[in-house]
Amino acid sequence: MSLAQISLTENDVTKLDTDLAVFFAWQKKDETPCCHEAVSSRIKAAFELKDFLAKAEQTCLWYPEKDSLAAKRILVIGLGEIEKEKDADVCLEIFRQAGGLVAREGDKVKAKNVVISLPDLSFPGQDDIAQTIAEGVLLGNYHFDKYKTPSEKDEKHTGFSKIQFASARDASLAQKGMTKAYNAALSVYSARNMAHEPGNKWTSLEFADYAKGLSDKYGFTYTCLEKTDMEKLGMGGILAVNKGSAIPPKMVILEHKASSSDAQTVLLVGKGLTFDSGGISIKPASGMEEMKYDMCGGAAVLSAMEAVGEEKPDLNVIAIAPATDNMSGSNATKPGDIIRHFNGIFSEVINTDAEGRLILADALAYGVKTYKPDCVVDIATLTGAVIIGLGHHYTGLVSNNDVFSELITKAGKTAGEPLWRLPLNKDYVKQISSKVADIKNTGDRAAGTITAAAYLAQFVGDTPWVHLDIAGTGWEFTKRTYIPEGPSGICVRTFLTMIRNWEKVDFQSSEDFSNKK
Ligand code: BES
Ligand code: MN
Ligand code: ZN
Repeated sequence: MSLAQISLTENDVTKLDTDLAVFFAWQKKDETPCCHEAVSSRIKAAFELKDFLAKAEQTCLWYPEKDSLAAKRILVIGLGEIEKEKDADVCLEIFRQAGGLVAREGDKVKAKNVVISLPDLSFPGQDDIAQTIAEGVLLGNYHFDKYKTPSEKDEKHTGFSKIQFASARDASLAQKGMTKAYNAALSVYSARNMAHEPGNKWTSLEFADYAKGLSDKYGFTYTCLEKTDMEKLGMGGILAVNKGSAIPPKMVILEHKASSSDAQTVLLVGKGLTFDSGGISIKPASGMEEMKYDMCGGAAVLSAMEAVGEEKPDLNVIAIAPATDNMSGSNATKPGDIIRHFNGIFSEVINTDAEGRLILADALAYGVKTYKPDCVVDIATLTGAVIIGLGHHYTGLVSNNDVFSELITKAGKTAGEPLWRLPLNKDYVKQISSKVADIKNTGDRAAGTITAAAYLAQFVGDTPWVHLDIAGTGWEFTKRTYIPEGPSGICVRTFLTMIRNWEKVDFQSSEDFSNKK
């Protein structure tokens, strides 16, 4: 729920009294694994017995004599043949996974505090190593048990409350990396916390409160478009989705201003659908409870602002979360209804369960017109089809701009959150042409992820745009030690990586899919 304390110590790791001291060991061809000298004789013995070969994700735990090490327990984690790996991003993911293992193993022995001895490796940088190990531990240390009453006899264990790093070769680099990890974890924890809250506890109102809280803390400009504003602005999409609901819709907006006047502007738009029943085109009962997670996109863009507030990058960053639930009250939108979006496009609602694109359409068109960003990303749990195509391993990406698409794909790779691009051209746009309106809100069964994106493409004009479909990765994401079950907080770190590494981008021209018919 909330983050553990983390710090860097210059004290000798062998002398620190702690529940758990962690060391890393890595394979050397046909030789004893490499590790900190404090544990090397034990590791040599374990290696000779073939009990511990320092393979990636292998662990070895023991209880030291008090006169050798001050810690109660020693844990050694294997990193495999990491020195052979030339791809920095692959190494970073090995460290994250190793960090996640620290949290997993710490849970098993109910350790409350831990000292982690940083591995002395020269590649990648010391800052990146510290950052990714710290990310792994912090993200793996996440627990959500707010609604579990603790039993009297079992002491509740919620992971480490104190995490210390030691043995840094360069303390200031290590500290830099740890701070980045901490800020990222702040954001990811918030994204996961919001997603964990069920539909009766996290509504459009809570989204607005959360964003207001961030603006008070970090000095962002906060705007919330209320239902009356939406009516005046002609946001027929979000209003249509909200019609069956008892809770008003909100369009929640946070703006971070760069220090330079010529900085570029990135707009992030996230689907904040706090519960998706399907509306009149109601979903089957089995598994419907998972649709409390249909707000993971909105959670990702707003929570990313938390790290933005901490780090204040020299880039204008705007986050918009259109927020509502999708219910089937007596006034609900019906199949066949025709709505008018903010940019004037008429749309025929074939299926009220294809609601994400309706709320995103207004948010995108409004965001692009109001803020004139250099580029826009939207993120949404948009289609079941993306799970059929990519499973739970890759987030689906659709874009009108090769430069921007590649930039985000690289950020995702560095963050350990893989993205895979799908095509888009006018043939897909044709699939959503309507007999009675400009467009309709579903294609046929074929290429459901792309036709959803084709719908969104109608609302960004020629602004360089990337669409991320996280229906497969928002929860049930590929097993990783640092991603506990439940909502993953996916793409928050991809956004942060993109923002942190931003250098003025020349987007060149976007492909033109704006033809409506
Ligand atoms: N929120 C769902 C998509 C979804 C499905 C997310 C499964 C995560 C897991 C979205 O609003 C939806 O219902 N999409 C429909 C679109 C269809 C009616 C064209 C879908 O994918 O079935
Ligand atoms: Mn739906
Ligand atoms: Zn939905």
